Amino acid sequence: MSDQFSYKNDELFAEDVSISTISKAVGTPFYLYSATSIIDNFLSLKKSLDGLENLICYAVKANSNIAILKLLSQLGAGMDVVSIGEYLRAKVAGVPGEKIVFSGVGKRRDEISQVLIGGIKQFNIESEAELNVLNEISLSLNKRTSITIRVNPDIDAKTHEKISTGKKDNKFGIPINRAREVYLKASQMLGVKVVGVDVHIGSQLTDLEPFRMAFIKVAELVNNLLKDGHEINSLDLGGGLGISYKKTNDVQPSLQEYGQIIRETVGSLGCEILVEPGRFIVGNAGILVSEIIYKKFGEDREFLIVDSAMNDLIRPSLYAAYHEILPIKEPNNNSSFVCYDVVGPVCETGDTFATQRSLMKMESGELLAFMSAGAYGSVMASEYNTRPLIPEVLVKGDNFSIIRARPLVEDIIQRDIVPDWV
Ligand code: LLP
Repeated sequence: MSDQFSYKNDELFAEDVSISTISKAVGTPFYLYSATSIIDNFLSLKKSLDGLENLICYAVKANSNIAILKLLSQLGAGMDVVSIGEYLRAKVAGVPGEKIVFSGVGKRRDEISQVLIGGIKQFNIESEAELNVLNEISLSLNKRTSITIRVNPDIDAKTHEKISTGKKDNKFGIPINRAREVYLKASQMLGVKVVGVDVHIGSQLTDLEPFRMAFIKVAELVNNLLKDGHEINSLDLGGGLGISYKKTNDVQPSLQEYGQIIRETVGSLGCEILVEPGRFIVGNAGILVSEIIYKKFGEDREFLIVDSAMNDLIRPSLYAAYHEILPIKEPNNNSSFVCYDVVGPVCETGDTFATQRSLMKMESGELLAFMSAGAYGSVMASEYNTRPLIPEVLVKGDNFSIIRARPLVEDIIQRDIVPDWV
């Protein structure tokens, strides 16, 4: 976990700011990100790719706040986007089109046109149908668009089944065995220009061997494509690097090893290497801060009912994901510990952050932090139960700023339109 969240003077700090201070200023619940941690993660990944011509295209889907995109863009990051919305966010953050790659299995025609007009480094193509549409739209705009084809290498990423993407039964990519045929077809199209190969086998990989197996298959394909006469200058190796979600946990894969695997498998092909990390950059750089509304005694357990819920952080209910929970007040030698079920106010049993979690004895009104919530937290939030999306705050040193404001409930309600015939 990020060392930017640590106890000082008996309470949890984000960098040099006490979280209770932020909480008083912003109100709970809120997401809180450490800029230093984001920067450190980016720079250490960059370092692991030393010696390779590379571009880190941050996967915007992990956390798309424009302040974060701008922070990363200032470090030289490119972006991986999967919708026109993400593309426009990247543009607003100042990322030039030539550093943005467009991924995703279902790019709509209007999205394709808008992105082509705005400028793009490459499209990562996921199907022949998409290839045909891109060719057609590119021609109509008098453009020749750089493409890679995302291949499906049929590799088990050994991660949660809902975020595994490189097996043959998954909807992603073109089966690697059919790739040469599709590359041939693409090379005959005047609206597209083949520049490389793309692969992404899944997210939260803590074992690096599946990466090695996938990259070996990609290297074999590249050699065949070169033989077939294609120019392959760019390899997009996707994202997926896992993080540690537990305090005492040694599963965080080594960056050095990741870099080494890339060098060993595809490093000698002379291609620019793109990677698309999301979680690795922001996951441990963010937390969700909540207040305990009530304590409640069930027949055989105690519940802590907090003011955030599954609509704010869906990972525990969707993937049975584990998030460390830390009290903002630091436990000490006199603290007693209790096993709690930590739950939100939403009317579903699935609205449970943790079951039978040992925590310092807590009281209502006290604050808790759900750790490692910087990736796929805020971006996956909804307004279920007409709960407004919660604010986001960015800390750097002893400075903090709200980077997304809390909407008014009234604004949500006003979006609905009642027809005059009702
Ligand atoms: N590139 C592509 C094409 C992707 O589909 C993804 C993630 C990434 C890059 C970034 O992967 P990362 O480096 O963050 O692992 N909501 C889930 C994770 C879904 C990942 C979707 N694709 C979760 O909360 O665990």
